Amino acid sequence: MIDIADITKEVETLLSGLTFQNTEDLKVSLLGRKDGVLTSAFRALRELPEAEKRVVGPQLSALREKVEVALKAVLDQHADAQIVDLTLTAIPCETGTLHPLTQTQQELEDIFKRLGFVSYLGPEVETEFYNFTALNIPENHPARDMWDTFYIKQRNTKGERLLLRTHTSPMQVRFMQQHKPPFAVLFPGVVYRHEATDATHEHTFQQLEGLVVGENISFAQMSWTFETVLKQYFGSQTKVKMMPSFFPFTEPSAEVAISHPDFRGGKWLELLGCGMVNQKVFEAAGYPKGKYTGFAFGSGLTRFAMMKYKIPDIRMLSENKIEFLKQF
Ligand code: PHE
Repeated sequence: MIDIADITKEVETLLSGLTFQNTEDLKVSLLGRKDGVLTSAFRALRELPEAEKRVVGPQLSALREKVEVALKAVLDQHADAQIVDLTLTAIPCETGTLHPLTQTQQELEDIFKRLGFVSYLGPEVETEFYNFTALNIPENHPARDMWDTFYIKQRNTKGERLLLRTHTSPMQVRFMQQHKPPFAVLFPGVVYRHEATDATHEHTFQQLEGLVVGENISFAQMSWTFETVLKQYFGSQTKVKMMPSFFPFTEPSAEVAISHPDFRGGKWLELLGCGMVNQKVFEAAGYPKGKYTGFAFGSGLTRFAMMKYKIPDIRMLSENKIEFLKQF
């Protein structure tokens, strides 16, 4: 005997008290394998005569379906809440940090960007033409000694001699061959010098080159640019001065030095080379004679990083010791 009305009533009473917290309990009470209300009813169903089975069976099935739908609805509604438990303690994890040189490059690029500069990258394996000749450093000229060069045995497909660029200045001509002034650009990148390493010298280091060209770019604009950028980077107490210098690709040329009370007791420290772009470089780039003026500068990013973070030995920047890198 199955009293379907009775069972329906019981199921409905249980379902009316259904909450997310008691879904499991209710599931057991209704559908539990041992004595769930519906499970027992289905078991009893097997004993009924055929005619009754055909009436009561579908009624029981409908009830079971109703229960399943109700349970699923409550669980679905809480699925999101189950995934994100905001009260859980965070899982501890180790995060990396950017290399101090990368941080230095990005900080300087950010400052220059606000002045309208855009960054470009170029090849580290260069031709003699871009690294020297186009920059007014003819073959066999003693000025080539300013950069101790690693030459590469193979030549390129045009038969030109190849080398590891000794500075980022070759990008000046590469860029000018493809762009018309006015522009203000930066060329960050790795350069190589054939020299012995010590606390202040590395054979591989990073430079940040800049080039500004237009119809009336002046020395005063160059000097204002350094004053502005260096004060933003090292702090407003920074003093900036320029001293005469020589580079074959700039005329006149200068060396920029800064003094800051926090760095070596305010001593003047040379930071970058610069100058007004030599007209011969414009010619090598294919610009019309005398049409443009501009300034260029090149600085060791390594120098910036060593000063800012008071790093005593340049080699620390390439050793990749985790104890050292973690400090930044
Ligand atoms: N290329 C020069 C160097 O590496 C620096 C420089 C760049 C000087 C641009 C003037 C203008 O020494």
